[in-house]
Amino acid sequence: ARPIILDVDTGVDDALAIAYAVRSPELDVLGITTTFGNITVEEATRNTLIVLEKLGSEAPVVAGAAQPLTRTKSEYPRHIHGEQGLGGAKWDEPKRRALPGDAADFIIEQVRAREGRLTLVFVGPLTNLALALRKDPGIAGLVEQVVIMGGAVRAPGNVSPYAEANIYSDPEAADLVFRSGLPITLVGLDVTMKTLLPYSRVEAWREKSGEVGRFFADMAEFYIDFYEQGYPGIGGCALHDPLAVGVVIDPSFVNVERVRLVVDTEGETLARTAERPDGEPNAGVCFGVDAERFLEHFLSRVI
Ligand code: BDR
Ligand code: CA
Repeated sequence: ARPIILDVDTGVDDALAIAYAVRSPELDVLGITTTFGNITVEEATRNTLIVLEKLGSEAPVVAGAAQPLTRTKSEYPRHIHGEQGLGGAKWDEPKRRALPGDAADFIIEQVRAREGRLTLVFVGPLTNLALALRKDPGIAGLVEQVVIMGGAVRAPGNVSPYAEANIYSDPEAADLVFRSGLPITLVGLDVTMKTLLPYSRVEAWREKSGEVGRFFADMAEFYIDFYEQGYPGIGGCALHDPLAVGVVIDPSFVNVERVRLVVDTEGETLARTAERPDGEPNAGVCFGVDAERFLEHFLSRVI
């Protein structure tokens, strides 16, 4: 199985991505690192432990950044992911705790221990990765692949006409990552807004998988409600974070173009991820997706 570290701001679609990753035999989840983003980092860590407990997974969890590199974040999109980040799901405090230590150090340690054979998947703001690169820039040449859910290159943004939420939450971190030389695959709104999970497929989880099924269905339905209100007629919630995991399991779900990517760190277009026609490509950007095949694969694994 392919070793990965998954970095999350759990969040409903993060929770679905965690389920997809730990239930896919192609992947060996060495650890899950957490960041602020959809909620605070303390809540992201707690939510991650809750989700892993529901899934019966012992994957180690390491907490990371509480704030962006240079900005201050104090508001969280609780209308999207629910007051506590897990939609309408009911939960108890997790039994397990996060490991001591910091996410950036854990990432450095794991990358160094597995020179060239580790894939990193980021589905929240890129702060932990930026902190790791600042501390140890040499890791950029030692990673097999970095898959990032973030950005909107040719598609419109979701927090502004230009910006996608993960990049918007820490544009300076994204800028550092895009300049680092890391082998990046970007899974942005260009493709994730096409991979939708409809109510009709979530209903079945309740009957199929008892308590765990109910937990995930209560979470997903809250998230679907937000999408149905925000994007009338869309027909489901976007599977942003699960698609990033899907791309690691089966790269043929997407079509990738190599481009030169830059991030705007100021002005009206703050956090825009734009292609530059000149300059060396620094990322593979996903522009096409076989949404149907991905959805069936995701559903076959997750609950
Ligand atoms: C991204 O932002 C978060 O709300 C989601 O979890 C996803 O990672 C989509 O823009
Ligand atoms: Ca996320």
